[in-house]
Amino acid sequence: MSEKGKIVMGALAPHPPHLVYAENPPQNEPVSEGGWEELRWGYERLRESMSDKEFDVIVIHTPHWQTFIGTHFLGVENFKSKSVDPVFPNLFRYDYDLNVDVELSREIHNIAEKEGLHVKMMENPDFRIDYGTITSCHLTRPEWDKPIVVISSNRASSYFSHEIMQANMLKLGKATREAIEKSGKRALLLSSNSLSHRHFTVEPELPEDMSKEHVTNHNQYIWDMKIINLMLKGKNRELIDIMPDFTEQTMAETDAGSLTWLISALDFPKYEAKIHAYGSVIGTGNAIIEWDSERGEK
Ligand SMILES: [Fe+2]
Repeated sequence: MSEKGKIVMGALAPHPPHLVYAENPPQNEPVSEGGWEELRWGYERLRESMSDKEFDVIVIHTPHWQTFIGTHFLGVENFKSKSVDPVFPNLFRYDYDLNVDVELSREIHNIAEKEGLHVKMMENPDFRIDYGTITSCHLTRPEWDKPIVVISSNRASSYFSHEIMQANMLKLGKATREAIEKSGKRALLLSSNSLSHRHFTVEPELPEDMSKEHVTNHNQYIWDMKIINLMLKGKNRELIDIMPDFTEQTMAETDAGSLTWLISALDFPKYEAKIHAYGSVIGTGNAIIEWDSERGEK
């Protein structure tokens, strides 16, 4: 391909397995009576919003493939197995069959390595795909008709600090953008994480009993709104600056680095993001947000 590739859209696409459980797709074993409609309708609006976009590949950064030495990339063309959520095996037992764009995966790996990051291609064909990847990809593109690139979450936040994690993710985001441009492909990028992440420790008898669902506490809600409003106003430098405090004070799932990676890959958009939903799942804060980079360029 000779034409320069591009990121056609980026999205914050959180992965509570409850949302897949509530949808009752044929791939998931447990059966529900519904629940978490606001978020599921939000995903519907996101799908509608991207329905006129043409893209070749989905690139996702996931908090639930955790690697302690460097960042890893899926390096096998197909994975087929069952994914079970270790915390919610009652909700998520999902049969997946997915294809990987190994060529683009390797290109991001190579550029990131040149930038000085520790990286590794994951080439074990029996590797079990994490439920974060599956849930975000399923809810964004239930047809599973596009190959994906999956990037692990290096746990620099746990080993060092949120600041070091962010420094690495800013490099990784830039490497991702450069690899996509070089590839000539059109890519959809997903940051698979919740925002505030304090959650209940006891599940209601019926998990989808919506009379039990609400944000864990008001502090989390205030922080989530602060973060969301920065994204909506295109103030993404400020967002990155306050992310370590937000992450620490709300135990946010941004500790995985996914959102920092996405903002960097999109090159700190100055245009407004668009929100499709905000809602709680077991008390955590979840927002579905898109950055339409093609619209933003105009
Ligand atoms: Fe998670």
